[in-house]
Amino acid sequence: MEKSTTTQRERPVLDSSFRHIAFIMDGNGRWAKRQGKPREFGHKAGAETFRRICLYCSEVGFEAVTVYAFSTENWKRPKHEVAAIMALLDTFLDELKRDYKKYNNRIRFIGDLTVLTPSLQEKIAYVETLNSHCRTVVNVALNYGGRAEIAHACNELIREGKKPGEVTEDDISRTVWTSGCPDPDMIVRTGGDLRISNFLLWQAAYAELYFIDTLWPDLTPDDVDDCIREFYSRKRRYGGL
Ligand code: IPE
Ligand code: IPE
Ligand code: MG
Repeated sequence: MEKSTTTQRERPVLDSSFRHIAFIMDGNGRWAKRQGKPREFGHKAGAETFRRICLYCSEVGFEAVTVYAFSTENWKRPKHEVAAIMALLDTFLDELKRDYKKYNNRIRFIGDLTVLTPSLQEKIAYVETLNSHCRTVVNVALNYGGRAEIAHACNELIREGKKPGEVTEDDISRTVWTSGCPDPDMIVRTGGDLRISNFLLWQAAYAELYFIDTLWPDLTPDDVDDCIREFYSRKRRYGGL
């Protein structure tokens, strides 16, 4: 007899070795193309997946979830695609303002937000004040680049008056945009490409990297469970034996 595919799978349990998961949400464009639809359609589906996956990650008990939503390099895309992504962000912020109680997490944006419209910046500042009691933080990387972030941290430290020879690794960790968050334990990239595309360069030092072929809009909570299982199958040595 064929094994039933509807059997409920056992949900993996997290412990304190897995606090932070990060996603490079890649593959929206290809997902749309496969259906003969414009790329924007893929971004809309991707935004829905983002909501579902974030909800699931807080349910599972992650302390931090970081998602790569828009890179410093993504401005190179056609104007209409960038505009569609910013419009989706605007819709998401409005929805969050209305329905934030639905989400068991607090949101924080990381990246250089100064180039966004004043209206988006205001909405972001407001939604960041919501759900402050929630355990899970969701970092949304927007106009984010790992290199820009390290340059930003250096500038902060110069502003603080650090002198040559005084800057420590801890100083950089506390001035990058993810400050206060543990480093990601695992970075998952959907869409099949094997690169990190300027994501969390400082924080990724000892992250487990996991590349999966699934396109972002198709990612499900079961796939997150697979990521968790994969994490627990890895042996982290941190340079030791
Ligand atoms: C990721 O999906 C979302 C953003 C970069 C904004 P893509 O838009 O890169 O989708 P593909 O990789 O072209 O399929
Ligand atoms: C990385 O995806 C950025 C985001 C997911 C936001 P890209 O699609 O921009 O990366 P490349 O161009 O394939 O490296
Ligand atoms: Mg891509």
